[in-house]
Amino acid sequence: MYNELKEVIAVRMVDLIEKKKQGQVHSDEEIKFIINGYCQDRIPDYQMSAWMMAVCFNGLNQEETFYLTDAMLHSGQIMDLSGIEGIKVDKHSTGGVGDKTSLVLGPMIAACGVKVAKMSGRGLGHTGGTLDKLESIPGFQVEMDQEHFIRQVNDIGLAIIGQSDQLVLADKKMYALRDVSATVDSIPLIASSIMSKKLASGCDTIFLDVKYGDGAFMKTKEDARRLAKTMITIGKAFHKDTRASLSNMNQPLGCAIGNSLEVIEAIDTLQGKGPKDLMELCLISGSHMLVQAKVVSSLEEGRALLMEKVRCKEALSKLKAMVAYQHGNVHLIDHPDQWIKAPYCIDIYPQMTGWCQDIKTKDLGTLVMKLGGGRQTKQDIIDPSVGIIVHKKVGDQCTQEEALCTVYASSLLEESMIDDIRQAWIMSTLPVMPILSVEEVLQ
Ligand code: URA
Repeated sequence: MYNELKEVIAVRMVDLIEKKKQGQVHSDEEIKFIINGYCQDRIPDYQMSAWMMAVCFNGLNQEETFYLTDAMLHSGQIMDLSGIEGIKVDKHSTGGVGDKTSLVLGPMIAACGVKVAKMSGRGLGHTGGTLDKLESIPGFQVEMDQEHFIRQVNDIGLAIIGQSDQLVLADKKMYALRDVSATVDSIPLIASSIMSKKLASGCDTIFLDVKYGDGAFMKTKEDARRLAKTMITIGKAFHKDTRASLSNMNQPLGCAIGNSLEVIEAIDTLQGKGPKDLMELCLISGSHMLVQAKVVSSLEEGRALLMEKVRCKEALSKLKAMVAYQHGNVHLIDHPDQWIKAPYCIDIYPQMTGWCQDIKTKDLGTLVMKLGGGRQTKQDIIDPSVGIIVHKKVGDQCTQEEALCTVYASSLLEESMIDDIRQAWIMSTLPVMPILSVEEVLQ
């Protein structure tokens, strides 16, 4: 009887793979059948990867992408944040190099009186993760039960914790399979993966930072725009105010890459002394988030309020309050000079004078991972002190007397590694225009 049942199910899944292979459209029931069957181990990995490969080639239309997101969303727990008073805003970045936006933007938004109840992830490969950055603050706890999470957000307006294992179970299985079956780079699969998690985390509004370029998932602005539009359409279908920025990842965001170096840069930024591109990204996304939360009526008003909260140090106080609540060492927020430094600090100089035309951002992210600042596999242990401080960004004039970057390492660097780092800077003999961090915001 059991074997007969398995056969019926297997035949149907085969039919559905065939259907998508032929470019035909799935119904809501068919998509539910696939996701539920896969989560309950009735559909094996080999069939699921064949179906996802068919999706990579033939896509999903808007309705199918909505059905997929809905089925994934209901595959696990959905957070109930109704215990938090007021509008809860959320932001998500599609991942990049040197992206410490959440550490700056979360406190800025909370200082404006809007609730930030954020669940973040860890880094893998060349991109960093907010949780790893926060854990570089000695003592900082990212694990918290729902009751404490809600209490903290009600008390201080801000909490950043690890995503519960119970959220969107389908994504956990599917993402692991996509990683090993070359099915990551499909817009409907990425959009449903991100949006199911955002919707499950229970916030009222969503701001997405969709990155494109060498250091990002999406290599071109056109693909980033398609991904952003797909996610906005899904958000709206679920009655959430959803907006998305398109931002350039053809150079690292800010100057610091590496966990504790990035936290220190976030502190500098909240003290009004951070890199311009990072602050600009925070002001653009933050002003949209304040409009979404209805605490201001225009983007200009939002920007002015955010700048004031940085100027009067209320945003920095929010970061300190969060660190204190989550058992981190607050003293280090006031004294960034007292963080444990990597034992080796090496300046890398260019071999020619000129202008920085391009930075191989993905390579820099990978190099920081190899220094010990990131994970190649989920089990790897991170060294929070290592990383790179970039001194020359696209458009900057470079001379042989000025370092391109400073590397913080736990041991001396081999010549080949120094060479690899230097090669990440592509030089031009002619002046080059700097690049804007945010190109546009879609809604
Ligand atoms: N981030 C996600 O959460 N899912 C994807 O598919 C890609 C990036």
